[in-house]
Amino acid sequence: MKACMVKPGDVSSARVEEIGEPPESDGEVLVEGLYVGICGTDVEISVEGYGEPPAGHERMVLFHESLGRVMSAPGGSGLAEGDLVAGVVRRPDPVPCEPCSKDQWDFCRNGEFTERGIKGHDGYGSQRWRVAPKFAIKLDPELDKLGVLLEPTSVVAKAWDQVGKIAERSTWTPATALVTGAGPIGLLAALIGRQKGLSVTVLDRVTDGPKPGMVADLGATYISSLDDLKEPPDVVIEATGIGQLVFDVIGRTAPDAIVCLTGISSGTRDMSLAADAVNKALVLSNEVVFGSVNAGLANYQQAADALKAADRDWLAKIITRTVPMADWAQALKRQPGDIKVVVDLQAV
Ligand code: BGC
Repeated sequence: MKACMVKPGDVSSARVEEIGEPPESDGEVLVEGLYVGICGTDVEISVEGYGEPPAGHERMVLFHESLGRVMSAPGGSGLAEGDLVAGVVRRPDPVPCEPCSKDQWDFCRNGEFTERGIKGHDGYGSQRWRVAPKFAIKLDPELDKLGVLLEPTSVVAKAWDQVGKIAERSTWTPATALVTGAGPIGLLAALIGRQKGLSVTVLDRVTDGPKPGMVADLGATYISSLDDLKEPPDVVIEATGIGQLVFDVIGRTAPDAIVCLTGISSGTRDMSLAADAVNKALVLSNEVVFGSVNAGLANYQQAADALKAADRDWLAKIITRTVPMADWAQALKRQPGDIKVVVDLQAV
């Protein structure tokens, strides 16, 4: 079978290769790979050497955003041939630490977890893959190709889940949210914010293309400068990873705000920080700023529910380009207008 292979940090090594069938040690469920989504992490792995291949290997099967169709599954697994599934990214550490033992591998305490297609484990960019039943999330069949959005949705489902838990510290309920960045993560964060009934504003620097209209279709407000913010947000979901923006936003939130950081950037820009003023502002307004990575098992289910409840035509606009597997390496390069690019694993 064919697979998208790369040596981390050597983008010139990115190509389609013929590899053996997926190892049974990956799990009893055999899946036909349909699509994978490309995200910034895949570019970081290929270009900058983030992540690591499986032990003893130089190259790895890339991709962690998956969609496939079950070819065979053991009886009693809750899965059957033909089911549409996406694979969970993280595997618990072998110790395991307490969160990993309770399906909260996103909170792994010792860093020994692995991640499919990112850290120490081959990914989902192959024409067939295997998983244990627990790591195959069943999707509404009507989602069809849109099911490839499950993994990025799980990341924002976790972010919102954590915001909700933090909000329980006080009696008031957040009503307004600012999402910074209208890439796939930002748009999906805005979607869930609206599903939760919040008034949502999305900030992105672009002023043309499909993003402003997509945000309006959610019943949310689109702005391209923080100065256009109409009301101080109770919640911020930050999805750009731009350090300067993080601190600009912290200064404009409502009292008791909760700011969730989901983005990272490979930038190395220095900035001067009025550290005492930031400290004072955070203390005097009970502000919580926290980071969020990956997703636990429960968040994947929340994400599957969010996608099921979403308008399909709206979701379809997130996928702006589909490339055949043979062209995956060129697709790592962003093109103007790209939101989410997906790779068709059956078109070779
Ligand atoms: C993935 C997460 C992963 C993180 C860090 C993100 O792109 O969506 O699942 O935990 O990268 O490797």
